[in-house]
Formats: sequence, structure tokens, C-alpha cells
Amino acid sequence: MSAFLIVTPTWDATPWAKAMKAARPELDIRIWPETGRVEDITYAAAWLPPADVLKGLPKLKVIFSLGAGVDAILSDKTLPRGVPIVRVNDDDLTMRMSEYIVLQVLMHHRQQRRLDENQRNKIWDQFPTHAAKDMSVGIMGLGVLGQDAARKLAMMGFKVRGWSRGAKQIESVSSFAGHEQLDAFLGDTDILVCLLPATAETDGLINSALIAKLSRKGPFGAPILINAGRGRQQNEDDILACLNAGTLHAASLDVFRKEPLPKESALWRHPRVTVTPHIAADSDPAAICAYLARQIENFEKDGALQNIVDMRHGY
Ligand SMILES: NC(=O)c1ccc[n+]([C@@H]2O[C@H](COP(=O)([O-])OP(=O)(O)OC[C@H]3O[C@@H](n4cnc5c(N)ncnc54)[C@H](OP(=O)(O)O)[C@@H]3O)[C@@H](O)[C@H]2O)c1
Repeated sequence: MSAFLIVTPTWDATPWAKAMKAARPELDIRIWPETGRVEDITYAAAWLPPADVLKGLPKLKVIFSLGAGVDAILSDKTLPRGVPIVRVNDDDLTMRMSEYIVLQVLMHHRQQRRLDENQRNKIWDQFPTHAAKDMSVGIMGLGVLGQDAARKLAMMGFKVRGWSRGAKQIESVSSFAGHEQLDAFLGDTDILVCLLPATAETDGLINSALIAKLSRKGPFGAPILINAGRGRQQNEDDILACLNAGTLHAASLDVFRKEPLPKESALWRHPRVTVTPHIAADSDPAAICAYLARQIENFEKDGALQNIVDMRHGY
């Protein structure tokens, strides 16, 4: 008997249970809090699990995160020791994220909000536009998502650079690594994209000091910020202050320190901020469950798992 428990207290688990059943019909699928006999449960898929739930499963072999980020799992400080945590690395999610990043880069680069405003006011203004080769896009986080977005932006002609913990070799993308190279990375970045995981090291990274280090040589005279990583990485008061001071030209934010973004946040109404409700790369149950089913199949064949979270680094 092998049971698969879904623990998603903040989401409706039903579509996940259906998708998992379709992907692996022989599994006994259970939805927390209806766990049944806890000794039957060998796999758990979770998002924001309450404390002690996963710890209370004595035969648990693998924990699956239902998103690419694992902060929602690691926030459970009672996780059972020694049980591997596997995160999502799936083409469906990656392509959704790249669509979002390319869309936001192009929206700023082609001044789409200005065009929308002009259309609303029936203004025919043929303002000058710029070539992609004159815009440098810097991606913080050159992992699965950052690399795909980097390649797609480079293909469109943007100057692309990336920053990660370790150096990378990606065609047409300049690689910067570690703290020592952060300033050099920022200094020639016109559009900063954040696709970092939420860890102690990335907490609050996007603040006034970091924004001050970005390039002012780009077409708009001040940099642009796109954050689709996690809200914890940004200081929202600093972002607003920089926008108002003109040291930041514009921002697209998909993630926030508090979600949903509180109605009183000035970000909602700022004319140079694009707010999206953490939907840059939605987790699609069918695609993600097909990925989980493949992982379980391989694991049961020879014990192999892919995309295991490195607990030392927290991602
Ligand atoms: N908004 C959304 O809808 C949405 C959806 C999915 C994911 N996300 C976010 O996107 C994040 C990235 O996902 P992913 O699949 O690309 O993750 P990933 O493959 O684990 O990549 C993470 C990247 O960040 C780099 N990194 C981590 N800590 C660093 C540090 N302290 N300094 C410099 N670089 C550091 C890593 O460097 P190395 O390569 O050298 O290890 C790696 O390149 C997720 O963790 C999640 O927060 C958001």
C-alpha cells in the first residue's frame, strides 16, 4: 500500500488530487486533513504545510514541493529530518515564467504604458523608440527559470547578463557570480530581473543601496526593476522612494512582502508600477502531477530523484 498525501491548506486540493490520479492511477490519493492511516503514506506533495503534519508521517519517503520555490515548504520548521524534498522543474512552468519576463521587458522597452495612456487621450505621439541591442537586461538568479528567460531575451537582441552563486556558461549571456561580482553585474544593468529563491541571503536584497548601483546609461536614464522571485527580497518602501526620486524609472512586481498586496499599498496606484498578483508562472496541476508521477516512477525503479533541495543553501 502506497499512499500520496496532498497538503495545501491555502489552495483547493481537488484539482491536484484529480491530476495526480490521472497521472498515476494506482496511487491511493489522500487530501489533508483526511490522512487516514498515516503509516500508509509514502509521498507527500505540499504547499505551506502546517507544523507537525509531515513530521507525523512515519513512512514518508519523499516530500514534493508544488512550486519551483521551496520557501513555502521550508517555512515548516518541524519537517522530518532525512526525507528528501524535491522541487518543481518543469517546462510548462518555465515557459510561463519566460513569457512573463519577456512580456515585462518588452512592455518597458517599447513604452507600452505610455502608448496605452496616449491612446486613452487620443494623442498621436511618435516618440523615439530604442533597439534591443541598446538595452542591457541583468537577471539575478540564473537557475532553471533565469537561464530560460536569459536565452529568450538574448535571442531577441537584448544584451543579457546574469548573476548567480556559481559562474555559468550560456551562449550570448555574460555571467557574474558571487558577492564579489555583484556590483560589476549591477553597474551595466538597465533592466534588473529578479528570479532568485527566497533564502536568508536574498532577504531584502532589492533596496535603495542596490538600486543606486544600477546603470543610468540606458535609454530612460534610470533603471527598471522586474521582480518575479519572492516578495521577501524587496524593500517596498525603498522601491517607492526610488521611483519618486527618479532613481528608478519603473517597476513590474509579481511578488510582494505581504500577499495579497494590501489595498492601502501605494504600489497599486503608482503610475510607473505594474502590479501582477503572483501569477508570473502558475503551477498547472496536470503538468506538475505528470512531473511528480515521472519522479515517483524513477524513484521506485532505482531510488533516483531529480531536483532535490540543497538544505545547506535553502533552494
Ligand atoms: N512569481 C512566480 O510565479 C514564481 C513561480 C515560480 C518560481 N518563482 C521564484 O523563482 C525562483 C527561482 O526558480 P528556479 O527554478 O530558477 O530556481 P533555481 O533553479 O534553484 O535557481 C536559483 C538561482 O538563484 C541563484 N542563487 C541562489 N542564491 C543565490 C545567492 N545568494 N547569490 C547569488 N545567486 C543565488 C542560484 O545560483 P546557482 O545556480 O549558482 O546555484 C540559481 O542560479 C524560485 O525560488 C521562486 O522563488 C516565482
